[in-house]
Amino acid sequence: MSGQPLILGIETSCDETGVGLVRGCELLGDEVASSVDQHARFGGVVPEVASRAHLEAMTPTVRRALDGAGVKLSDVDAIAVTAGPGLAGALLVGVSAAKAYAMALGKPLYGVNHLVGHVAVDQLEHGPLPKPAIALLVSGGHTSLLLVNDLATDVVSLGDTVDDAAGEAYDKVARLLELPYPGGPPIDKAAQRGNPKAIRFPRGKWGDGTYDFSFSGLKTAVARHVEDADRGGEPLVVADIAAAFQESVVDVLTRKAVDACVEHGVSTLVISGGVAANSSLRELALQRCQEAGIELRVPRPRLCTDNGAMIAALGAEVVAAGLPPSTLDLATDTSLPVEHPLAV
Ligand code: KG4
Ligand code: ZN
Repeated sequence: MSGQPLILGIETSCDETGVGLVRGCELLGDEVASSVDQHARFGGVVPEVASRAHLEAMTPTVRRALDGAGVKLSDVDAIAVTAGPGLAGALLVGVSAAKAYAMALGKPLYGVNHLVGHVAVDQLEHGPLPKPAIALLVSGGHTSLLLVNDLATDVVSLGDTVDDAAGEAYDKVARLLELPYPGGPPIDKAAQRGNPKAIRFPRGKWGDGTYDFSFSGLKTAVARHVEDADRGGEPLVVADIAAAFQESVVDVLTRKAVDACVEHGVSTLVISGGVAANSSLRELALQRCQEAGIELRVPRPRLCTDNGAMIAALGAEVVAAGLPPSTLDLATDTSLPVEHPLAV
């Protein structure tokens, strides 16, 4: 294993400054500094605040990751960094830092795709990903179904959200229910005490023959339900609303993901991104995968949310595939398509 290159991964696409150290599929170091507390009172990430937090956290987080892995900066063989998609200013901080490390160390730089990183990270927990695999990526910014033929060179988008991302829907519904930000964990918790059948919320793009998703109609239905209860002077049964909302989200996500596996003859499904931490999503996906004879791989929650290890994991794949490094002109791309695991 030690014959494989040591990859330093840097992630700054949103509000987590992540630094990971990886050799092949082996995770050596993983440190994350989050600015989420600074955004909580705004109910969403404030880009300028996130960028400044990245700048302050970058060097100490790299130092902690190196110390945790018991390696020196001079041991690093290549640097991988998130080039997109993500927040413009936040990405710039990470890419600038990665360029500085690459130049100072005289080591190659690889600008990689955040979304593909969310899939690649699974290899650190479950070993090499079978080819092909289907990946369901569910986070605060994205909801995508991917056909992953090869992590470094061949990722095909099967479908995407046409409006809100799944995590964004959780965050907005949490706000309607006066639950804290980010909304996923408190809704997940409240839902466990509720009755998902108490209210029938719509299932966006259900059975429409595509692998696209839509959550804004669901969010509007929850808003209307809350308004109606307010007007009627009825108490809000938060647990039931959370449970019914959650059932609508995970029902559509798991149904479409399993359908994609069946249609493409793929026997491995990976679910990743912050929403993959959701207990109900994990449960229903497992049940439906078992019924369909599909192997389900879900990284542990720590690896599902944004981190540097996922970027190092994808960097290791890109290096192993022999792809050419990025130049020091590497630009950021706030909407880097998922079909580009390596930014050009
Ligand atoms: O992947 P991530 O950390 O950051 C992005 O790239 O967006 O995902 C963050 C999202 C947030 O919207 C948060 O509410 C959601 O993941 N989330 C959850 C849970 N834990 C985090 N959603 C549902 N259930 C959870 N347990
Ligand atoms: Zn992410």
